[in-house]
Amino acid sequence: MESIVKVERPADGVSLVRLNRPEARNALSHALKDALDAALLDVERASDVRVIVLTGTPEAFCAGGDIKELGAVTVEEQLAMREHPLWRTLGALRKPLVVAVDGYALGGGMEIALAADLVVASEGAVFGLPEIRLGILPGAGGTQRLVRLAGRQRALRYLLTGDRLSARAAQAMGIVCEVAADDAVAAALALAASIAAMPPLAVRQIKEVVQLGPDASLAAALALERNANLALFGTEERTRRMKAFTEKGSGRA
Ligand code: CAA
Repeated sequence: MESIVKVERPADGVSLVRLNRPEARNALSHALKDALDAALLDVERASDVRVIVLTGTPEAFCAGGDIKELGAVTVEEQLAMREHPLWRTLGALRKPLVVAVDGYALGGGMEIALAADLVVASEGAVFGLPEIRLGILPGAGGTQRLVRLAGRQRALRYLLTGDRLSARAAQAMGIVCEVAADDAVAAALALAASIAAMPPLAVRQIKEVVQLGPDASLAAALALERNANLALFGTEERTRRMKAFTEKGSGRA
């Protein structure tokens, strides 16, 4: 049987994780969440992976929570159930996560994109948080991440209607960094490869300060930034690159 999550190594330092449940538009069944969580933890641990690209299948990145499973859950079960570890894993990855969206990114699918560091979408990609139409809310970080990214007015505009957004609208709201004319995966892999070629400790520190800073006071965030930079000043990579620049070597690039 084909695996519901596939992991490939398309380029040096880059891992491509693919949701592979196209017959259900990659709806997040419990089994798919378990498999994705395990795959992300594996690539996070792999010493030769620097950047993770996560994608779906051509018709859908992910249609969100599996409504057929969710429909059978009682409120008591929902209360007793702890948050699936996938959501914590997504928020705690230290390596950059680039999501490539083709087709639909709805509900939990859009929430994965909201938790990513970078999102590349194809021109025809469709985003949305339709949970309100099912009588629930985006409970995997969607309400809080969207308001932080897009502001209260734009977040509520979509949260309260469940209306869909085009890739361009998502880009205008700061949810997408790049709209690819055709192949979102190719564009995401190119972006991932250019990040993978950067000094890994600088990549890590930049991701961390950008992730933590906005929820801290400005003074605390600036201290975090200063300390992260100080740590980078202690690295051999920094010494080598600055020396190369000073000596007008290859470090100029
Ligand atoms: N859960 C379970 N099954 C789903 C699903 C979902 N979220 N989305 C699609 N499927 C299944 C369909 O039931 C269908 O299965 P059958 O062939 O057995 O009938 C199959 O996938 C193909 O779906 P469609 O025929 O509907 O395909 P389409 O291309 O015409 O439409 C779609 C695709 C727009 C994504 C549409 O399927 C849809 O609107 N899906 C629901 C989206 C949604 O409401 N998501 C929010 C879920 S709640 C949530 O995300 C909360 C959370 O857990 C974090």
